[in-house]
Amino acid sequence: MSSADSSSLHPSTVVVALCRPERNADAPLNPPIVLSSTFVGDGAPAPGDRVYARYTNPSWEPLEEAVAELEGSDHPALAYASGMAAVSAAFSLVPIGGTVVVPASAYNGTVGLARTLAEDGALSVREVDPANTEDVIAALPGADLLWLESPTNPLLDVADVPALVAAAKQHGVLVVVDNTFSTPLRQRPLELGADVVVHSATKFIAGHSDVLMGLVVVADGALRTRLAGRRTLAGSVPGPFEAWLALRGLRTMALRLDRAEASAAELAARLEAESALSRVRYPGLASHPHHARAAAQMSGFGAVISIEFEGGEDAAVRFVRGLDLFTPATSLGGVESLVERRRRHPGEPEAVPVSLVRLSIGIEHVEDLWADLQRGLRAAAGTAGAA
Ligand SMILES: Cc1ncc(COP(=O)(O)O)c(C=O)c1O
Repeated sequence: MSSADSSSLHPSTVVVALCRPERNADAPLNPPIVLSSTFVGDGAPAPGDRVYARYTNPSWEPLEEAVAELEGSDHPALAYASGMAAVSAAFSLVPIGGTVVVPASAYNGTVGLARTLAEDGALSVREVDPANTEDVIAALPGADLLWLESPTNPLLDVADVPALVAAAKQHGVLVVVDNTFSTPLRQRPLELGADVVVHSATKFIAGHSDVLMGLVVVADGALRTRLAGRRTLAGSVPGPFEAWLALRGLRTMALRLDRAEASAAELAARLEAESALSRVRYPGLASHPHHARAAAQMSGFGAVISIEFEGGEDAAVRFVRGLDLFTPATSLGGVESLVERRRRHPGEPEAVPVSLVRLSIGIEHVEDLWADLQRGLRAAAGTAGAA
């Protein structure tokens, strides 16, 4: 693969320029998809050889190298079959009987996995409010792993990552940051001292709601070797086509995120003036309780907004049903705007209010999105027929 010297390039160039085949005559511009479950070997010992497509795969490598570059790691990322496979891989670093500190309001799959492992007796879980730094620090003594997701899905709470990393180091606790909402274009947890970064690449990285994939990035080479060995044994690997699609999505992530984020900032500000809403959660708003913290550790505030309704769950349901352009569907980070009342999921953490609706802002024209939100607000108020 061609790896142009990336040290002087901006991240928006890195996503486009890196990890392409060598520039030889007639070489393809894009890395090819390699559809092979096995690779030729001659009987000699094969350390470092490909061997078999569950061990390593030429179709994953450009994506793994590009994401490592973006996250500021010297070691290739590890691609997984889904974000949850990546989350599970990070949890597998906890010894049997160990202790994990987890945000009570993190993504429901992550909280669900932690609770299930605790029920099975595999580990102990301490659930904390990630925005309450003292609360998290108090839970660290004797723990093995601190899980951070910042901002959280869907409350958009922001953890003080540098302060928590510093405290975790003092207690010898490994720190994992789920960076799905920020992407490496807005937050680089390894630079803030974290040990492991996890992504649901299904979201902003792939960006088109057509791929399920996860990624793990680590600062330490020995940890990468350990995770790679476990991935081979667990078999939690992505298909070549998924990896190719995710890399294709990554090429436009900077453009997509710039556009969606600008619209999210504008729409959050307008929604704040709506009396039907009891709360608008967006880290870019000055009213967000952790706005200053977010501004200090992130270079942008992302494209997800959560809103809560004065009229409770019923108003929230009417709002979702009243929208035309926003599609009611779970997930986020795609080119198309999605809307979801999160407590429709039985497994959603209780910390999430029943009237909370998550908006994933896509790349449509902002005025069309605003017109749709107004349509939804009229439906929520029961005045849908009015002008
Ligand atoms: C923050 C976060 N982490 C992890 C996941 C799991 O990712 P996947 O759905 O790709 O398994 C999600 C999914 O929504 C998420 O929002």
